[in-house]
Amino acid sequence: MEISHIKLVPVLLFILLNSVWCTTSNSISESFLQCFSSHIPSNTSSKIIITKNNPAYYSVFQFSIQNLRFLNTPTPKPEAIITPFKHSHVQAAVICSKKEGIQIRTRSGGHDYEGLSYVSIAPFILIDLFELRSIDIDIENEIAWVESGATLGELYYAIAQKSKVHGFPAGTCPTVGVGGHISGGGYGSLFRKYGMAADNVLDAKIVDVNGRVLDRKSMGEDLFWAIRGGGGASFGVILSWKLRLVPVPPTVTTYVASKTMEEGATKLLSKCQTIADWMPEGYFLRVVIGVTNGTNGGKTIEAEFSFLFLETYEELLPWMKENFPEFNLSRSAFTEMSWIQSILYSSSYSINDTEALLNRSQQSRSSFKGKSDYVTEPLSEAGMEVLYQIMFQLDASTVILTPFGGIMSEISESEIPFPHRKGNLYEIQYFVTWDDDKDSEKYVSWTRMAYAYMAAYVSKSPRGAYLNSRDLDLGINKDANTSYAEASIWGLSYFKNNFRRLAQVKTVVDPGNFFFNAQSIPVLRSGKMKCQQELDASL
Ligand SMILES: Cc1cc2nc3c(=O)[nH]c(=O)nc-3n(C[C@H](O)[C@H](O)[C@H](O)COP(=O)(O)OP(=O)(O)OC[C@H]3O[C@@H](n4cnc5c(N)ncnc54)[C@H](O)[C@@H]3O)c2cc1C
Ligand SMILES: *[C@@H]1O[C@H](CO)[C@@H](O)[C@H](O)[C@H]1NC(C)=O
Ligand SMILES: *[C@@H]1O[C@H](CO)[C@@H](O)[C@H](O)[C@H]1NC(C)=O
Ligand SMILES: *[C@@H]1O[C@H](CO)[C@@H](O)[C@H](O)[C@H]1NC(C)=O
Ligand SMILES: *[C@@H]1O[C@H](CO)[C@@H](O)[C@H](O)[C@H]1NC(C)=O
Ligand SMILES: *[C@@H]1O[C@H](CO)[C@@H](O)[C@H](O)[C@H]1NC(C)=O
Ligand SMILES: *[C@@H]1O[C@H](CO)[C@@H](O)[C@H](O)[C@H]1NC(C)=O
Repeated sequence: MEISHIKLVPVLLFILLNSVWCTTSNSISESFLQCFSSHIPSNTSSKIIITKNNPAYYSVFQFSIQNLRFLNTPTPKPEAIITPFKHSHVQAAVICSKKEGIQIRTRSGGHDYEGLSYVSIAPFILIDLFELRSIDIDIENEIAWVESGATLGELYYAIAQKSKVHGFPAGTCPTVGVGGHISGGGYGSLFRKYGMAADNVLDAKIVDVNGRVLDRKSMGEDLFWAIRGGGGASFGVILSWKLRLVPVPPTVTTYVASKTMEEGATKLLSKCQTIADWMPEGYFLRVVIGVTNGTNGGKTIEAEFSFLFLETYEELLPWMKENFPEFNLSRSAFTEMSWIQSILYSSSYSINDTEALLNRSQQSRSSFKGKSDYVTEPLSEAGMEVLYQIMFQLDASTVILTPFGGIMSEISESEIPFPHRKGNLYEIQYFVTWDDDKDSEKYVSWTRMAYAYMAAYVSKSPRGAYLNSRDLDLGINKDANTSYAEASIWGLSYFKNNFRRLAQVKTVVDPGNFFFNAQSIPVLRSGKMKCQQELDASL
């Protein structure tokens, strides 16, 4: 029993568990503390460095862990947590960690699917940016400077305080951090009209491996390109982003309808598979498919269709009538609201409780596992049937479809590292949550099985994946010397042809691979021969 359990825990966990047993040191070195306080006033230093014997240590550590899978299991804990409130504190943390040869992990909102912002195989220091979250909105010029530790909810709230007709095209979950989200791409209800969060970054500030603060001009266009979708953690610590705000109408409309298989879900799903190509760019759809109790005592599949229209009911009605006569189109089935309310609505907050956007605690936390795919050809009926059969194997299974299209099809694949643009009909996520970690294996295995069965129906060579739905099953770096060819196993899925440029940037800005983690961008090895071999192997 015990043995089979260990055999089936995810690869990384297995490594992590081993390293717990092997790690003996449990306090941070004196020389690190000395280095740190030599860079910043010591009365400040002692406030922002939280060591293991500090009573606040555990509560700060666990506060923004969103995936309880990595809290309930014994993962190695940081030697210390640094909570900077000035940019110079981040600089000192990087300089001293590098000097002492200890790794760092950078955490903004803590939503990483695989916990990479707060777990590490090697001893590490956690830089938690939750105190670095100032937001400066300039409506006149339609720009914002936002620090990495801010959440999307805080950003949306700050925009709404200044303007009812501006928004920002990022994710829908208010507790997600802008540090991880934007550096990994980031999309939500405005992305078919305005692109991803990373498509709307105008400038950024980053602490590089040498502890310097760089902006767009001083970091250069290559690094500025890399951090907009290539993941920040491979390149430095991003301090802040300058964002382009986008116009939203004063009134938007939401519509949610659920249909079971018996009520015609399959026909609607078929129609929605190609919707990327024909839905106006100001419309957004997300379909959540789950298993539910049927009327006849058995199980059935239910699909929930959630639309957001950047229009009023009167304006959208002709399109709905023409395309979705199956739905109940009476006025009372639609809800008109402001854009900021639509954010609250989609997160199941009361739409008048704008302050809820400032609450950094998730409404509920659980363990979860997600995997992503991109669909380029509509699933046949047989493919749909395969999906249903997989879902029936686990009551808690959830599959989320997000149609692309709109401006996403017009932005070039190499504009930023996020490559999944034209030709993608929708993204699929296989996503499960659970509360009792005794059952982890059952749920994680389900996502792997779903992923295996769906291979025939999704993008191929490479099979695409979304960095912000991080999945260590795709492959991990065995150590800091992992080669480009080895890392390509997962790197090409996330980045396609942009992976090579990411590795080139990495090699220039962090040749010693200080910013290393289980899925960080690899350094191209020095030596012309070796380098050439690696590039050849990747072609
Ligand atoms: C409940 C939930 C809802 C989500 N909804 C959406 C959605 O609607 N759309 C979408 O696109 N994605 C969504 N995501 C995915 C989310 O965008 C990613 O998990 C994102 O990376 C989270 O950013 P974070 O700052 O909260 O995470 P963290 O865990 O803090 O960081 C994620 C990664 O980025 C690195 N990082 C964080 N901050 C910095 C920094 N300042 N400098 C350098 N590296 C940094 C971390 O080290 C880690 O590798 C969701 C995730 C969850 C759990
Ligand atoms: C640290 O000391 C300096 C000089 O005495 C003072 O100005 C500063 O406010 C102190 N900082 C904190 C965080 O107490
Ligand atoms: C389905 O039925 C089972 C047992 O009949 C019940 O325990 C469960 O709560 C029901 N699920 C839903 C989603 O209604
Ligand atoms: C349509 O929705 C409205 C409001 O939710 C409801 O009152 C009405 O009965 C529904 N009509 C049909 C045909 O289901
Ligand atoms: C929100 O506030 C408006 C205006 O005060 C009110 O008409 C509406 O009923 C409220 N909605 C909810 C869901 O509380
Ligand atoms: C923030 O959200 C959490 C979780 O939903 C809740 O328990 C808490 O009361 C909220 N805090 C405030 C200040 O509303
Ligand atoms: C990486 O390679 C260098 C040089 O070959 C070696 O010194 C170092 O120990 C290696 N690091 C790891 C983690 O294997």
